[in-house]
Amino acid sequence: SKRRISGFKPTGRLQLGNYVGAVRPTVAGQDEPTVAFIADLHALTVHHDPAELRERSAEAAGLLLAAGIDPARTILYRQSDLPAHAELHYLLECVAGYGEVHRMIQFKEKGGGSGSRLSLLTYPVLMAADILLHDITEVPVGRDQRQHVELTRDLAIRCNERYGPVFTVPEAVHPAVAARVADLATPTAKMGKTSASAAGVLFLLDPPDVLRRKIMRAVTDGGTEVVHDPEGKPGVSNLLDILEACTGEPRRDFRNYGELKAAVADAVIATLEPVQRRYHELDPHDVEDVLRDGAERAGERADATVLRLRAALGLTAGR
Ligand code: TYM
Repeated sequence: SKRRISGFKPTGRLQLGNYVGAVRPTVAGQDEPTVAFIADLHALTVHHDPAELRERSAEAAGLLLAAGIDPARTILYRQSDLPAHAELHYLLECVAGYGEVHRMIQFKEKGGGSGSRLSLLTYPVLMAADILLHDITEVPVGRDQRQHVELTRDLAIRCNERYGPVFTVPEAVHPAVAARVADLATPTAKMGKTSASAAGVLFLLDPPDVLRRKIMRAVTDGGTEVVHDPEGKPGVSNLLDILEACTGEPRRDFRNYGELKAAVADAVIATLEPVQRRYHELDPHDVEDVLRDGAERAGERADATVLRLRAALGLTAGR
């Protein structure tokens, strides 16, 4: 049977790319064992403000619940509440090679220079630890995370070959449409929590008028024809993908860009409105209770995994 995990790094506010790339697929898969977590340790890999991190973590957890993560079925917790992540991270650093980690695209894109935090380099190893802790078979992620899941697979396979069967080997799964939502203002770049400007990012908590304004101002491409052509018309293609992802309906024809944008705005607002309503109804204390309970439930399996690896590596199996 399948076991899935998805993680969200609270460096900024959750946006539409997170929603269609990972949140919704995770919500849809909850009939099978599912783990969702707030990757707050990952948020420490770049400059951060402690008070803001605390706030963003709570907000992200609330949004996951509002989007349909069901704590009765799914384990939802905060990464830093479970010490096993940090322990497995270190043990996997002793399995991973410097070269293969240094080659990771995101490290290069984020400009890991001599001034950056060392944890930015080892970030993919922490992500591997997150996944391998839970005996995961499938990781629903956006395209941008694919390389990290590949590294996770490599480390799991290497460990199993060297030290005996320790880990389940996971694979990445991506949504059929909009596996990489692009920034509305810079359609060649991925929509990100940390995009240069907020103009191109549809945050899940943006009020409807703000969502509509951002979409109506989205950068489109030369010409007037509405066609899906990711190479030649990245802006228009992105809008068509967002529309399809939000409505679940196949692409239809539009006479012009304005008509397309209006349809996208309606669809995004209709998708996010119920999430926003549920979010604003949540009691922050209940969210904290869910996270605390989740960390407890996650702990048992996570600790067992670490013990298995400790024994396989020649360390004491107990503590
Ligand atoms: P993060 O926090 O950047 O994004 C969370 C999830 O949302 C997806 N996503 C997107 N999908 C489509 N289009 C986009 N524009 C877009 N932007 C983000 C991401 O692919 C991801 O699935 N390293 C991870 C967090 C993480 C994690 C894990 C995920 C840490 N450990 C273990 C899965 C399993 C990250 O920074 O995602």
